[in-house]
Amino acid sequence: MKSIALLPGDGIGPEVIAEAKKVLAAVGAAYGREMTFESYPFGGAGIDECGDPYPEVTAAGIRRSSAILLGAVGGPRWDALPLEQRPERGILRLRADLDVYANLRPVRVHDVLLSYCPLRPELAKGTDLVIVRELTAGIYYGERGRSRANGEWQAYDTCTYTASQIERVVRAGFETAQKRRKILHSVDKANVMTTSGLWREIVGDLAPEYPDVKVHHLLIDNAAMQMMRSPSQFDVLVTENLFGDILSDEASMLAGSIGMIPSASLGPDVSLYEPIHGSAPDIAGLGLSNPIGTILSAAMMLRHSFGWEAEADAVEAAVFRVLEEGYRTRDMTKVGTEAVTTSEMGSLVAEEVLKMSAKV
Ligand code: NAD
Ligand code: IPM
Ligand code: MN
Repeated sequence: MKSIALLPGDGIGPEVIAEAKKVLAAVGAAYGREMTFESYPFGGAGIDECGDPYPEVTAAGIRRSSAILLGAVGGPRWDALPLEQRPERGILRLRADLDVYANLRPVRVHDVLLSYCPLRPELAKGTDLVIVRELTAGIYYGERGRSRANGEWQAYDTCTYTASQIERVVRAGFETAQKRRKILHSVDKANVMTTSGLWREIVGDLAPEYPDVKVHHLLIDNAAMQMMRSPSQFDVLVTENLFGDILSDEASMLAGSIGMIPSASLGPDVSLYEPIHGSAPDIAGLGLSNPIGTILSAAMMLRHSFGWEAEADAVEAAVFRVLEEGYRTRDMTKVGTEAVTTSEMGSLVAEEVLKMSAKV
């Protein structure tokens, strides 16, 4: 029996979580797996219900759970709040609380999606990469402030990394590469930043422990360019918190939409799974959102938290079967073609999981 904590959050969060839950229920029925679901207030919904984006009831609930599936948080309703009270701060506190330092963001350009990629198909073909983003330190967690100096405002954010914070995520990068094509690109800004200097040194020190992995160092600006020039050269990229955030949104478009990309945030204890996109207030409540990133996040949960490989494979196969059949949500619909709604997409994937298991 696995207990899954659902944090639907705001905007399209609840819509995409509902579809992932539908698919998980199909997995349970098809494979005889027992899962329970409990929803907790989080983000803007946490502020509205409990006055806190990461309420105590949520913190207590997730400690009793086997894994956490999060939708998205934030929106114009809470944008005027001071930074430390905003929905997004709930995410930062949650990640720190769980110590989920390794955030895996896989981007795969399936052949059926090639024509949705803004790059020429011959450039994007075969792209299958994972960004391993450091998630619990760096500039997101450094000292920040704003004050008046010499008659004007000044503001600062600081980026700090300890050697052990770097080492553990770099090891996650090497280990991820060892299970794949054994190429690791470490992405930094070592020509300017001292944290990057330490980062590069540690990657160099650890490399001899992983002799089967070919290591490259890339500066972040070059990495962003290479991602558009030749994305299929990448296998695993490991990088700090802010660079990983930006690089993963850029890379998401290779798969046709930010709505396609899942993530797993792994740490020593309970892990967290979430799509990489935000709450998309512009399309919330209209049935236009793509639930696939959240459904694939649920698949990562089955694999990484529960060790249910066959079930995770089945969800991923079901998603690509539905895409092969030509179904698309609005974000990936070409002019003159019909879109399915968020809920229809979830149902199609759930039905496919059931159909596939009936054939086994
Ligand atoms: P966003 O990712 O919410 O949206 C960017 C664009 O992508 C929008 O046009 C949106 O409609 C589209 N989009 C995003 N997800 C989609 C999906 N599943 N299907 C179809 N289209 C999708 O980023 P933003 O607009 O910069 O931020 C909106 C809010 O979300 C902000 O409050 C921000 O802080 C928050 N945010 C939260 C998370 C998170 O919860 N993990 C991540 C990013 C942004
Ligand atoms: C993400 C988001 C978050 C981040 C925000 C909402 C704090 O953009 O999960 O990618 O920057 O980590
Ligand atoms: Mn982001």
